[in-house]
Amino acid sequence: MTAANESADVPARLLVRDLAQLVTPSGGASPLRGEGLGEVDVLEDAFVLCEGGKIAAVGRMQDLEPFAGDIVELDGRGLSAIPGLVDCHTHACFAGDRVEEFALRASGASYEELHAAGGGILSTVRATRAAGEDGLRAAVRRHKAWMLRSGTTTFESKSGYGLDRDTELASLRAIAGAGGVPTWLGAHAVPSELDADAYLDFALAEVLPEAAKLAEAADVFLEQGAFDVRQARRFLEACRTAGLALRLHGDQFTEQGAVPLAVELGARSVDHLEATGDDGIRTLGASDVVAVLLPASALFLDRPMPRARDLVDAGAAVALATDFNPGSAFCESLPLVCSLACTQLHLAPEEALAACTVNAAHVLDRSATIGRLAPGYEADVVLLDTSDWRYLAYHLGGDVVKAVIRRGEVVKDS
Ligand code: NIG
Ligand code: FE
Repeated sequence: MTAANESADVPARLLVRDLAQLVTPSGGASPLRGEGLGEVDVLEDAFVLCEGGKIAAVGRMQDLEPFAGDIVELDGRGLSAIPGLVDCHTHACFAGDRVEEFALRASGASYEELHAAGGGILSTVRATRAAGEDGLRAAVRRHKAWMLRSGTTTFESKSGYGLDRDTELASLRAIAGAGGVPTWLGAHAVPSELDADAYLDFALAEVLPEAAKLAEAADVFLEQGAFDVRQARRFLEACRTAGLALRLHGDQFTEQGAVPLAVELGARSVDHLEATGDDGIRTLGASDVVAVLLPASALFLDRPMPRARDLVDAGAAVALATDFNPGSAFCESLPLVCSLACTQLHLAPEEALAACTVNAAHVLDRSATIGRLAPGYEADVVLLDTSDWRYLAYHLGGDVVKAVIRRGEVVKDS
């Protein structure tokens, strides 16, 4: 048992037995692309054995070896096991809410108009700056608990609602402190006190040196009204030099060159892609940049959905995430995202599962340890309250997650 698991709550050995189904993306490669994205292994009448926080074995009940010694057993009858879900794109470090803005949008105001009028992202910046580090820690912990209840056992979160040195760094510490994977979204919006170039001068000189020690990746919002392609290139090149992996918010409303820039700079991912056309799809199909699709955001803003089917068919590596944030996607549920993937993006349930497990893990550079149910992987397991795992996507808005095991510990059991 590793030190991290020497808590009274983590059994040395945990056996989930008599599962109706155990499902995992096939093979060991990552990311999965093309036809490989839809290949899953389904074991019926199955078990998963966890030891020391890792998966020791999975298999059919008939092949379960007899064992001696202490073991905690969970009854899996009528349930299905899938890998713990991986949310590779969230904005979980924010204070306040945007419920007023939500109501205004419901009566016709557009997201871009509210942003241009000093609301939108900048209103969350004001609330986040006022929250203090303890307030931010509490906010991330609260949001993490919501995600966990929906089956997310690993989450990435961006900063980006501070846009000043202290709040950006406090955000990254709060995310890491809650066990999240921190991304410095240092170029999310232009704060009202500066213009875009002056803000980047400040951010790269004053924040990047410390942010690079706390974050794993950097991210930029490349869009009209945020940062243009010249500014995005400048920001990302400086971040790459500082050792950060690169990600972009691109083609959310308009194509501004995010896809070619992501490929040129060797970014891990380009995220959103609701406005991406044929050229961008072809380019991504021939690249190693992962296309991270966020259908809850398109739904929440009543925007066109990204062309997921075309991306998969072009050979692009596609991942799914929630984009959880207070403005464009107040939604922490990857099961709901899987439902949207099947109903709106025309992906199969198998493709949706792979996109928010192994491919999302790849975006976070963790595909050797999370995203699959296989020996040696972290013991992150979601038990669905159904004998057919495809209810994950089929039960739209349903309460399908019965139990969550993280690192061998049962962290939710309803
Ligand atoms: O991914 N587009 C930029 N950023 C977020 C939204 C942030 C907000 O509205 O607070 C997104 O949609
Ligand atoms: Fe986002």
